[in-house]
Amino acid sequence: MTGPVRDDAQAAAFIRANTRVGATPLIPEIRLHLSDAVTPLWQATEDWLERNGLDPPYWAFAWAGGQALARYLLDHPERAAGRRVVDVAGGCGIAGLAAAMAGAAPVLVVDLDPMAAAAVRLNAAVNGLPVRADVGDATALPVPAADLILAGDVFYERPMSDALLPWLRRQAAAGALVLVGDPGRAYAPQSGIESLAAYEVPVARDLEDRPVRTTQVLRILGDAGNVGTDN
Ligand SMILES: C[S@@+](CC[C@H](N)C(=O)[O-])C[C@H]1O[C@@H](n2cnc3c(N)ncnc32)[C@H](O)[C@@H]1O
Repeated sequence: MTGPVRDDAQAAAFIRANTRVGATPLIPEIRLHLSDAVTPLWQATEDWLERNGLDPPYWAFAWAGGQALARYLLDHPERAAGRRVVDVAGGCGIAGLAAAMAGAAPVLVVDLDPMAAAAVRLNAAVNGLPVRADVGDATALPVPAADLILAGDVFYERPMSDALLPWLRRQAAAGALVLVGDPGRAYAPQSGIESLAAYEVPVARDLEDRPVRTTQVLRILGDAGNVGTDN
């Protein structure tokens, strides 16, 4: 496929052609358009996206943080049911999809990458879940953006953590329940958090340096005096 992604239909065609619909071992309930070792297209996909000036295909994987959040919400549906949810930096949308499956409404997934929004729309359709996907910078969303804010695997780069963590704390200070899934990334907060659960998440060897990542579901506390990366 060549040429820029002109519209959502072209993005959807690219995603369908370069992924398989399947589920991760930890979240068999949710089917996603995923790239995996059987579909050796990560490199091809990355090359095509690079030629077209697009981001790496984060949306083609369910990252450990998103998987842990999804497992937590499916096992504790009362945390999501009846709540308005925003899944920020949602990638493939696994956490938002789990929230919708648990009874949340409405559910919005926001990601900077237009390809992620296209993937979330496809994934919502595959599962028959009413999840909306928007393209945008999560930190531009209002405070509070929803009753429940989800963020899976967002602390792997310092600039991203420095932008998102203060915003997440403001959401919590304004009364939202803010849950993040974190597999021990370098820029995750070390304080102003409450650990709610931990999961052993099998992960793709193409992406990670080990086959399983211990991944915590953390509640971000709203502490106006403690808004940095904390490490
Ligand atoms: C490692 S992926 C995690 C995706 C998903 N949450 C999961 O756990 O599978 C990080 C995602 O964050 C998105 N992202 C980074 N900064 C963002 C921002 N300021 N606003 C919205 N999305 C952002 C990227 O485009 C990417 O899709």
